[in-house]
Parts: sequence; structure tokens; C-alpha cells
Amino acid sequence: MTAKIIDGKAFAATVRGEVAEHVARLKEEHGLTPGLAVVLVGEDPASQVYVRSKGKMTAEVGMNSYEHRLDADTAEAELLALIKRLNADRDVHGILVQLPLPKHLDEDLVINAIDPEKDVDGFHISNVGLLGTGQKSMVPCTPLGCLMMLRDHHGSLSGMDAVVIGRSNIVGKPMAQLLLGDSCTVTIAHSRTKDLPQVVRRADIVVAAVGRPEMVPGDWIKPGATVIDVGINRIGAPEKGTNEDGSVKTRLVGDCHFESCAAVAGAITPVPGGVGPMTIACLLANTVTACCRANG
Ligand code: GUN
Repeated sequence: MTAKIIDGKAFAATVRGEVAEHVARLKEEHGLTPGLAVVLVGEDPASQVYVRSKGKMTAEVGMNSYEHRLDADTAEAELLALIKRLNADRDVHGILVQLPLPKHLDEDLVINAIDPEKDVDGFHISNVGLLGTGQKSMVPCTPLGCLMMLRDHHGSLSGMDAVVIGRSNIVGKPMAQLLLGDSCTVTIAHSRTKDLPQVVRRADIVVAAVGRPEMVPGDWIKPGATVIDVGINRIGAPEKGTNEDGSVKTRLVGDCHFESCAAVAGAITPVPGGVGPMTIACLLANTVTACCRANG
């Protein structure tokens, strides 16, 4: 079998187009422009890339983008004071604090300082609780993007066996909640799971979110299963040669070994071009939702 490639890039472009139409209507009919504030503390290179990309796409769909870049040694009180200002700012409908934060900052404290109504990441403890109890909440962007692709491919997910590899608060746990909400039978596997290959082989749906390059080989995948690869890992690619400074060129890979998994799966998301673009599209959609809720 050769898997259908789930084109997250194209899907995300469609979602962003819908967001742009909604933003245009909000402007025309209500004089409202949704605004997203992104806070970046420090100079983590991957985070800088994400933040730049978020700012660009926010502007492209016609929303206001507010970027706040703080030094790596920013005091917790200063960051909390910024969040307080953003909470009170009526032009800001969504607030995202880019993670990970430098070690001296308490991530839980910072995230829980965000007004839950503006928490477009869905990481505030109130939103986590609402999602866990099946109530209306802000839903974390990466799992939401994965769910949209799964629903688009399968229609109903009811009764399917889903295995989520990884138990992070950002992806693994909310992903499991969403799949449960769609009536899947859900297993969360992690580093202590006994006989992981056997657990994964049971799955109709595999969501890999561990951050380990090409960890899942094709012989763990049940023939015909759907594989959603959340990993974005940069590895050395000596076959591509060297850079001008003599360093080895790199390439992006997922948590699944693409070629061997694609040979067995029924459908698979590529890296890049799968889950990644959907995450930002869902962030934009969540910001519009927050703007609409804030304005009745
Ligand atoms: N770092 C990696 N992924 C995310 C995300 O979805 N949101 C935030 N705030 N930080 C991240």
C-alpha cells in the first residue's frame, strides 16, 4: 500500500482563507479588527522562526499583530505586568506566550496569568478543565489542526482505536481529549509504555508527538492506519553536502520514518507540510473566535 499524503499546507491555506473572509466581515459589519499579541522571551532560534511566521500570517489574514520581545533575563514580575496590560487591552483579543520560557520563569504561573478568554493557545488551567469536561473552551492549536485533518479524511472517527505517542500538555494530553470527544478508544503511550510497537500496531489512528526524529518505523503501523506526525526535528543531511562554513546541511524530519510508514499506512501527514501549517491556521481561527466571544 502507498499512503495518501494528507496535504496540511493546502488545508491550512483554505482555513486561512476562511479566517480572512471572517475578519473582513467583522471589519465591515462591526468595525472590529481581531488582534493577536505574541510574547517571546529570549532568543531561542526555533521560537524566533515560529514567532516571525505567526506575525506574518496574522497580518496576511487582515488581523492586527502585536509582537513583544523581551530579554532572556526578564524578571517574572515584568512579564506578568505585560500580561496584565494585554489582558486589559481591548484591541488585543488573543495572547500567546511562546514556550519554552527561560528556566527562571514559572511557566504555569505565566500561562495562568493570561485571561482565559484571550488564551488562544488553550493552555490556561480553565481551558484545560473545560476541554477535559467536554465544555466550550479554547482548544490548543496543534491538536485542533490534527483533529481537523482526521475529520476531513475519515468523516466520523467514532469507534476507532487511536494511539497518541507523547503525553505533553501542549499536544499529547489535549489530543487524547479531542479524540475521546470524537468517540475514539484512546491510548496515550509514552517513554515508560511497555511494548510500544505492539501498542502502536493496534491503532487505526497514530498521532506521534514525542520530538524524537524518525522514532516510529513502518513495521509499527497497522496496514491502512492513518498516521499524524506532529514532530518537527532538524537532523544532519550529509547527502545534501555542506554549507559555505563547512557545516553539514540539515533537513526536517518528523517523529515517524516517512518512507517506511507511508508504505504501510492508508494516509500520512508529511514533515514539513503536514501538521505545522495547520497549527498557525488554527491559532488565527482561535483569535477570531476570541474576538467574536469578547464582542458578544
Ligand atoms: N511552543 C511550541 N509549540 C507551541 C504552541 O503551540 N504555543 C506556544 N505558546 N508555544 C509553543
